[in-house]
Amino acid sequence: MFVGFKSGSLALIAIVLAYMYTKNTDDYLQQHLDEVLSGLLRAEEKVPFGGEQLASPKVAVGFGACLDVLGDADDILKHVNAQPPSLPQHFDHIENLEQLEKVFAYFFRHGAAAERYVDNSTFFSKLARGAETLSDVTVTLGGNAPVMASRFLSEGCQVMLGAKMTESLKSQLSPEVIVAGGNVDEDDIHLVMEYKKGQQWGPYVSPRANRFIVHNDQNNPTLSSLDLFAEQVSVFSPSLLVVGGLQMLDNFPFKAGERKGHLGRLESFLKETPRETRVHFEMASFAEEACLKDVIDSVVYYSDSLGMNEQELPNLHSLLTSGNITLISDPYPRVATALDHMRAIYSLLKNTPETHGRRRLTRLHVHTLAFQAILTTKGSSWKNTMSAAAKASLTANRHTCGSPAIQTHKAKILMDESFSTTREGGHRVHFHSERPVSCWQEDDFDICIAPVLVCTEVVQTAGGGDNISSAGLVLQI
Ligand SMILES: *[C@@H]1O[C@H](CO)[C@@H](O)[C@H](O)[C@H]1NC(C)=O
Ligand SMILES: *[C@@H]1O[C@H](CO)[C@@H](O)[C@H](O)[C@H]1NC(C)=O
Ligand SMILES: *[C@@H]1O[C@H](CO)[C@@H](O)[C@H](O)[C@H]1NC(C)=O
Repeated sequence: MFVGFKSGSLALIAIVLAYMYTKNTDDYLQQHLDEVLSGLLRAEEKVPFGGEQLASPKVAVGFGACLDVLGDADDILKHVNAQPPSLPQHFDHIENLEQLEKVFAYFFRHGAAAERYVDNSTFFSKLARGAETLSDVTVTLGGNAPVMASRFLSEGCQVMLGAKMTESLKSQLSPEVIVAGGNVDEDDIHLVMEYKKGQQWGPYVSPRANRFIVHNDQNNPTLSSLDLFAEQVSVFSPSLLVVGGLQMLDNFPFKAGERKGHLGRLESFLKETPRETRVHFEMASFAEEACLKDVIDSVVYYSDSLGMNEQELPNLHSLLTSGNITLISDPYPRVATALDHMRAIYSLLKNTPETHGRRRLTRLHVHTLAFQAILTTKGSSWKNTMSAAAKASLTANRHTCGSPAIQTHKAKILMDESFSTTREGGHRVHFHSERPVSCWQEDDFDICIAPVLVCTEVVQTAGGGDNISSAGLVLQI
């Protein structure tokens, strides 16, 4: 009895202590998150809304538009009776249900975003039409370029979009966006299968929230809006030209030489673009080595700035340094690893000879789930790198949580308390919650790292990179 009482009260004390401890850590974490949020907001607000120019800056964005059908991956897969495969496998393009099952599992278990062409219209229609009948599916204007265009518009820019679309799809876009590129009879559908962190599909569990996109797009892979867009851009004379959506050319069944032909037209356009117009290229998921090589030759060497995510960074790094692409990489890269890749890419591309319209790289933005990293050449025309990193980070939360007001109880920080600036040697940078954006100088460039308040109640991931990249760019032009 006595013994029982004693252990009972000890247990009670333990519970009380545990409660106090948890409460203190919760309070501490909450305070930490609130400090980081106000620090990021202060950094974002340093640059007055609409940038420093008196007139709103002009931005032209290409290429493509489509109808996005967004839904839960599980629901969409169930609807076509897809079964988790015993062996995930990569296919460059998808011909049937079995290949979809395998390739979806391949990316899902790594939580890696990917976009693949379905080389079977019958199968794709079945899949897409089926998905459209599901109750929890959203159908909206999609494509990288329209998302970026809308973002620039809401940031106060004058915007021109290069895309071919139906009048009905165009009506989903603000009438203030000037659309250059012409009309189509039917919009191409992109089926976006979203999944959450920890979501299960048979034996597979996704380590982070992400999406897998499939399409049977016949129009965007040929850059069909390019010629009309190029004509109008030369009159519009933008401060910034953003190129994106080129993953549409990846693994598309082109005839020999056709892809090079389309990219060649783009290359000529970039060559003729005056230097006062800065060029930004937003990477995407490329799985076809030859395609990415052509994109590097025709676009990367003609860009002042590049934007990419944590999968695209090692992919580009690998192709530039060893001539191979990587399909899957760490969904949670360390800051040091990302910085090493960024330095390598930068040091290769900053020496691009500025002949025949080529440009030296002066800006590199890497967006990951945990942090934003922006590198700019000292003395280049890119301004406000610190505020841009903060804004990119805030946009990541606003986009994935689906709300402009950030709620810290729906956020967490994945970045460590300190990080190393390189994998070998380097110095440690400690993270200060009151001044969350760390900036420093190296050789001939400045670099800023901002932690992301990672959304814990994800509403959408598709379009995230485009919103984030555009939000970063708008403060720098
Ligand atoms: C294309 O899809 C249809 C419908 O799902 C299927 O019956 C057919 O076998 C597929 N073709 C190939 C080459 O896999
Ligand atoms: C690169 O690709 C070639 C041919 O596909 C292969 O033989 C080689 O092992 C690859 N190298 C790396 C580093 O992956
Ligand atoms: C990102 O862009 C899409 C499309 O323009 C928009 O619906 C969404 O609200 C944007 N997200 C943010 C944070 O602005």
